[in-house]
Amino acid sequence: MNYRVPRTRKEIFETLIKGLQRLEYRGYDSAGVAIDGNNNEVKERHIQLVKKRGNVKALDEELYKQDSMDLKVEFETHFGIAHTRWATHGVPNAVNSHPQRSDKGNEFVVIHNGIITNYKDLRKFLESKGYEFESETDTETIAKLIKYVFDNRETEDITFSTLVERVIQQLEGAFALVFKSIHYPGEAVATRRGSPLLIGVRSKYKLSTEQIPILYRTRNFENVKKICKTRMKRLDSSTCLHAVGDKAVEFFFASDASAIIEHTNRVIFLEDDDIAAVADGKLSIHRVKRSASDDPSRAIQTLQMELQQIMKGNFSAFMQKEIFEQPESVFNTMRGRVNFETNTVLLGGLKDHLKEIRRCRRLIVIGCGTSYHAAVATRQVLEELTELPVMVELASDFLDRNTPVFRDDVCFFISQSGETADTLLALRYCKDRGALTVGVTNTVGSSISRETDCGVHINAGPEIGVASTKAYTSQFISLVMFGLMMSEDRISLQNRRREIIHGLQSLPGLIKEVLSLDEKIHDLALELYTQRSLLVMGRGYNYATCLEGALKIKEITYMHSEGILAGELKHGPLALIDKQMPVIMVIMKDPCFAKCQNALQQVTARQGRPIILCSRDDTESSKFAYKTIELPHTVDCLQGILSVIPLQLLSFHLAVLRGYDVDFPRNLAKSVTVE
Ligand code: G6P
Repeated sequence: MNYRVPRTRKEIFETLIKGLQRLEYRGYDSAGVAIDGNNNEVKERHIQLVKKRGNVKALDEELYKQDSMDLKVEFETHFGIAHTRWATHGVPNAVNSHPQRSDKGNEFVVIHNGIITNYKDLRKFLESKGYEFESETDTETIAKLIKYVFDNRETEDITFSTLVERVIQQLEGAFALVFKSIHYPGEAVATRRGSPLLIGVRSKYKLSTEQIPILYRTRNFENVKKICKTRMKRLDSSTCLHAVGDKAVEFFFASDASAIIEHTNRVIFLEDDDIAAVADGKLSIHRVKRSASDDPSRAIQTLQMELQQIMKGNFSAFMQKEIFEQPESVFNTMRGRVNFETNTVLLGGLKDHLKEIRRCRRLIVIGCGTSYHAAVATRQVLEELTELPVMVELASDFLDRNTPVFRDDVCFFISQSGETADTLLALRYCKDRGALTVGVTNTVGSSISRETDCGVHINAGPEIGVASTKAYTSQFISLVMFGLMMSEDRISLQNRRREIIHGLQSLPGLIKEVLSLDEKIHDLALELYTQRSLLVMGRGYNYATCLEGALKIKEITYMHSEGILAGELKHGPLALIDKQMPVIMVIMKDPCFAKCQNALQQVTARQGRPIILCSRDDTESSKFAYKTIELPHTVDCLQGILSVIPLQLLSFHLAVLRGYDVDFPRNLAKSVTVE
């Protein structure tokens, strides 16, 4: 949205579409926009909705097919909204995509991330009042509810933000919402609970403030009937953000900074239940209730993210770029934290809590998908270095079991995005039980990094490809660094610590060596890409490598793939082995080497043709291999960082050969903000 900087409709489209493209990794089964129509005289205000099933490109093409929209029309003030969807309620189609509307006249339109859990009750209520629904979404209830509140308002001059405030008091579940209305032209209202939302601010002129004070209402409301009768205290609108001299200022609302970073790096992160409104070129934020822990203001923060960081560069896909970035990303994870001269590690975000962590009775490490695998990969070294029991948990299962958690537990939450709903809910669960909570995320300002007591930013840089790669290796290193920090005073562990720290130092160089195997792995993919199934087997430090490799293959190649613990081979999976079934075996020179040899014998005895990932100096395994990929050797507990990379590359090549969109696999989203 912009003020007093005339923009053509074409420019407005471009801003919205570009923003959506940068967010496409969050979901991409349909997309839509709402903008002002041509005829915007006071009496005939009009919002034009354009929605389309498919990716953002399909929406972009659709926009230019709209004969009724003059692309050259200029707007001094304009507020457009756009959304790309990943279906939760209702199949992907144009009607179910966002923006959702209040009625056929598009009086109120809204975009929504999250899930409204009480939408059925609300829908029933609204249907009883005569509102007709056209979609199967939970979001449509919000659009209808705001119209209901508006239609039943007690005064003519009710503000847009008051309407939104009343609406969200009826909503249960998670949401980030942005509203637009013909009744409030040029105004925007946004709010969140549980789903991320930020506001970018761009102005050539000095801003009136760097801290937006929070305004409070005085009353709270119980139900729909009641809210429409209660009078609200008016807000003092002098405390808000604008550009000094009333000059041009633009505001961008987004669920992720990558959507707006090319316009501004100055952002305000909204908190749960904040209601942000832009009216007349000014931004104000208010909340209904004040609680003792509330921060009285929201600061404008400057993000360090560069646009080029999130572009593809010379690679054909973000995933490929991210795989090849790993020599730098792992270095960045360690930068300023590991001192290779003194053999010490300092994680600034944890140092104040170290005493408390050392006193705890167990560590619980929680995550989903790849982040969970990073926990599995480091469990053994954490047990060794911290000398504590370590539980590794999938967030959803942890919650399903109502797992007992105590005040003297320390709970780690591993999440690239910092927004995964299951992990976030597990965090709140542990917090409620008094445990110390630690975030390990890649996203500054994310919900998990804000809600945990302390944490580590893995500093891998933005990850766009849905299949996580560089975040895994950086999470892995972050957890190892934590173990090293915990064991600093343990005399008996000094040699081991030195060995690991030395291993960390040489990792970036060794990763480069592994990446140079790309062509060989491409050739292997050529042999395998028509297969239906692919098994990945290993044990010990490399069990996680197998789980993670199989997940990459499933996610982007749509082949069936399973990570198998070699120790379990004889208890079932062996039945799958025959001449046809491709099996990748990860066999490294570590304490499990001899046991892996047994598994190898069991496979070859059934005419299996194993493709072996092994150490360069391993002559024993290669004798039985159908093919080998030889890797440089590092200390056992870090070997998983090197051995996962060939599997990342293999999944990438398989997906390309099978003709799939590597960065946007079907049915998946980068950041799953629903339970
Ligand atoms: C989704 C993604 C996975 C990711 C998982 C956890 O399922 O598709 O690639 O590993 O979420 O995400 P997080 O952001 O919490 O690491």
